[in-house]
Amino acid sequence: MKKQHWPGGAMLGPVPPALVSCGTVEKPNALTIGWTGILNTIPPKTYISVRPERYSYNLIKESGEFVINLPTEKIVKAVDYCGVRSGAKEDKLAKCGLTVSPSVKISAPMVDQSPVNLECKVTDIVHLGSHDMFIADIVGVNVDESLLDEKGKLHLSKAGLCAYAHGEYFALGKQIGDFGFSVRRKSVQKRRNMQAKKEGRKNGKNGK
Ligand SMILES: Cc1cc2nc3c(=O)[nH]c(=O)nc-3n(C[C@H](O)[C@H](O)[C@H](O)COP(=O)(O)O)c2cc1C
Repeated sequence: MKKQHWPGGAMLGPVPPALVSCGTVEKPNALTIGWTGILNTIPPKTYISVRPERYSYNLIKESGEFVINLPTEKIVKAVDYCGVRSGAKEDKLAKCGLTVSPSVKISAPMVDQSPVNLECKVTDIVHLGSHDMFIADIVGVNVDESLLDEKGKLHLSKAGLCAYAHGEYFALGKQIGDFGFSVRRKSVQKRRNMQAKKEGRKNGKNGK
């Protein structure tokens, strides 16, 4: 590879184009957030970086709550719309045909059409420059039951998740490994592959 050196920039990718809902069930809003991620495992902590000029900024700051709704291919057009129009001017969720339900632990609502909703409570706000980072505890997670197998294991690969990189949206492609596969013994790997093939067949896939 022959590399060019560029000035520092926000070039990390892919990131989730997360649909972040805030406000209340009666008056919900959502904005799209690319600058998000996991900060800590125990306790589970996340962040979203939001420009203070966003309509959602004060909703989140005043309530101290938001929900991260994982984006899917099915709702990616709505995800983009919520990232280019402001809730100050319209009910974006209604416009996109998205609906909300009450969360379990917080009063910010979750988006029904997203398969995984992370209920978040703000613990710190860090002023960084263009954006303020809301650091939050993930106080509850809601998952679509159709993504669970009979043992209760979550299969996110079936959710149709999507990603965002350098201004473009992508559907996640085929699975190319799993956690620790680079060091796993061949016999264990073979068993896992066979199991995955069997599950694929059971789920109507051709197992290839
Ligand atoms: C893919 C994508 C990623 C975005 N990421 C962020 C982000 O991380 N932080 C932010 O403040 N705005 C981000 N935006 C812009 C806001 O979503 C956008 O300004 C939105 O209209 C704000 O809505 P609101 O005024 O209803 O709060 C992003 C937009 C898109 C399309």
